[in-house]
Amino acid sequence: MAVDERSPEAVITGPVADWATDFSHLEPEYAENAHAIWDELRATCPIAHTERFGGAWLPTRYEDVQAIAYDTERFSSRHIIISDHRPPLDAAPIGGAPPITSDPPFHHDARKLLLPAFTKTRVAKQEEATKDLCHSLVDAFEGCEVVDAAREYAMHIPMRVIADMLGFPPEDGPTFARFVHEMLEAVDRSPEERQASTEELFDYLHEQIRDHVADPRDDLTSYLIEAELHGRALEPQHVAGMMALLLLAGIDTTWSMIGSSLWHLARNPQDRRRLVADRELRATAMEEFLRAYAPVTMARLVKQDMRWGGVDMKADDWILLAFPAANRDPERFDRADEVLIDREVNRHAAFGLGIHRCVGSHLARMELLVALDVWLDRIPEFGLDESAPVRWSTGQIRGPRELPIRIG
Ligand code: HEM
Repeated sequence: MAVDERSPEAVITGPVADWATDFSHLEPEYAENAHAIWDELRATCPIAHTERFGGAWLPTRYEDVQAIAYDTERFSSRHIIISDHRPPLDAAPIGGAPPITSDPPFHHDARKLLLPAFTKTRVAKQEEATKDLCHSLVDAFEGCEVVDAAREYAMHIPMRVIADMLGFPPEDGPTFARFVHEMLEAVDRSPEERQASTEELFDYLHEQIRDHVADPRDDLTSYLIEAELHGRALEPQHVAGMMALLLLAGIDTTWSMIGSSLWHLARNPQDRRRLVADRELRATAMEEFLRAYAPVTMARLVKQDMRWGGVDMKADDWILLAFPAANRDPERFDRADEVLIDREVNRHAAFGLGIHRCVGSHLARMELLVALDVWLDRIPEFGLDESAPVRWSTGQIRGPRELPIRIG
């Protein structure tokens, strides 16, 4: 069992006794039953607490999630992945991976740097290559009756797209999958192990920066190296931090979303048949999948002791900001617990709310729609293979990591 640094007697992993007072997003039970857990908490609690991680809160109502996301005065993004470690206060307002770890006023300028690289027009340039990639992944299923749609399809799409955009060698894909796992899922390892993973990731990124300084190219890494903030080139640490963010933020999020959408269609033949027949409906269905299976929960740190939403928060308590729970709040969405692939009005929070709203949302939508289009056009008949289990990731990014699908 792993132990918390702030209060050494507190255990951070192990079975949950009561979700309202002892929640943990690191348990397989949370990964498998997240929707039911949020519904129960929202109806009864509605801001859950845990002593794990040195103290954390879990709001589940849309209204609370929205209020916290907008309140950068009282909630900091200094670190957005919960573990037993809190970065020092002087990490604010920049943080290790700007702009997601930045607070105002620095956040605004760090974010502005990234925006031109992720407009709809820039993203459209990746579309043909993404289609080709999806087709080549389906080509490789030739002769298979069952495939793992998470590992043999969904995972590769965002990995290859972001590697191309950053100008990294495409064969480094498996290394990125390991970085993603170690930085975002395996947060219950010892501080030394986590430090070693962080160093390995940053060594890799600095190597790429050196390579691009020696040989500049038309890609995102060269763009960031040449970018200026307040009239000066960025520090190499800032460039590497942004690259780390793009690598990590872009991969398992989109991978999870493609996987969850295919999981839904594998279990709901009516929806599958409707989308196979009606290409126009796919973009609307995609928004509903984003709402219903939103993969990303980010964290905040409470800045000072205060009474908030009827509970007593302490400085440096974590907030597990569950955008996916907000998306299932019946106060906000009609028939919130149902997946309606033709839902017309759908102002979901899957890409976040407030100043940190996802910079990569156009890219994510393009990848998701292309992934669905190619799969549905090439494999119209498919279903879950019941002989092997589906495995959902634990931690803050939720999606299927093993997804056996029968295609033949
Ligand atoms: C379906 C896929 C995705 C989902 C659901 C998603 C979701 C989110 C969410 C909820 C946030 C807000 C974080 C917060 O409030 O702390 C966020 C921020 C961010 N995302 Fe995404 N994301 C996805 C894909 C991507 C991709 C493909 C990229 C780019 C490669 C990307 C880049 C970013 C960046 C840079 C931020 C930080 C923005 C800021 O702090 O101003 N995301 N994303």
